[in-house]
Amino acid sequence: MSALQGMSVLLTGGASGLGRAILTRFLEEGANVTVLDRAADKLKEAEADYAPALQVVPGDVRSPADNSVAVASAVATFGGLDVFIGNAGLWDFGKELTDFDPDGLSRAFDELFAVNVKGYLLGARAARCALRATGGCMIFTLSNASFFPAGGGALYTASKHAGVGLVRQLAYELAPKIRVNGVAVGGMPGDLRGPGAPEMADRSLADIPVQRYLQDHTALGVAVEPEDYVGPYVFLASRGDSRTVTGSVFDVSSVGIPQRS
Ligand SMILES: NC(=O)c1ccc[n+]([C@@H]2O[C@H](COP(=O)([O-])OP(=O)(O)OC[C@H]3O[C@@H](n4cnc5c(N)ncnc54)[C@H](O)[C@@H]3O)[C@@H](O)[C@H]2O)c1
Repeated sequence: MSALQGMSVLLTGGASGLGRAILTRFLEEGANVTVLDRAADKLKEAEADYAPALQVVPGDVRSPADNSVAVASAVATFGGLDVFIGNAGLWDFGKELTDFDPDGLSRAFDELFAVNVKGYLLGARAARCALRATGGCMIFTLSNASFFPAGGGALYTASKHAGVGLVRQLAYELAPKIRVNGVAVGGMPGDLRGPGAPEMADRSLADIPVQRYLQDHTALGVAVEPEDYVGPYVFLASRGDSRTVTGSVFDVSSVGIPQRS
């Protein structure tokens, strides 16, 4: 039997990049997946291909109401909720503190933290009762920027460090019924965007040669694809393999190990 057969999973940011890779793998492993994404139109074809195991809820992770609707939809359609994956995120394109004027800094902080931190908190709050009922778990997408500088600017790095705090505190608060863990992924090709203020919403990570950079600078020299990072999500979601694991963040980025010259 597949690792996640029959499980009901709610995933944010599943329309693109890493989220899309998690979605595909979880469906292959037998899960039923509800995706909350503001770019839900990107999943129209997939929704038809994977019906009835995939349902898409258009919405914004910054909205308490949209998170509640997504959880209620997962429970109504798939009979409960086993896993909540907070994954939708924004980047800051490595913009440094002194690159911002004060107003721009303030607006960019509000938007980026609202997605990367508040979005995870709102999703966790909305999902907790349904997860408690099944003895389920939460998984948050974190980053090499959860541990190290230079994976972004101060805003992104602070938001992903905050994600580690969320994992540890929620693992404590929601035990023993709900396990809470994180996966700290590294760079990969994707469509990661910035906050609208100041003018980063139209920039995309897709314009940056990430794979070439990673091959040249990370310890293993791998030309990473989003699919390379998905295994730990399957492990953490599966009750059999990870029932003793909570409050952990798996750093799968290999960024902390310098490349041999
Ligand atoms: N791409 C990288 O190099 C990289 C590196 C480390 C960590 N990460 C993390 O991986 C996660 C996914 O990044 P990605 O590269 O797949 O990005 P992506 O932009 O390709 O996908 C993110 C998805 O989230 C959705 N989204 C964004 N804001 C939203 C909102 N407010 N409400 C609802 N949906 C929203 C987007 O529509 C998109 O479908 C993020 O948490 C990011 O911080 C990415």
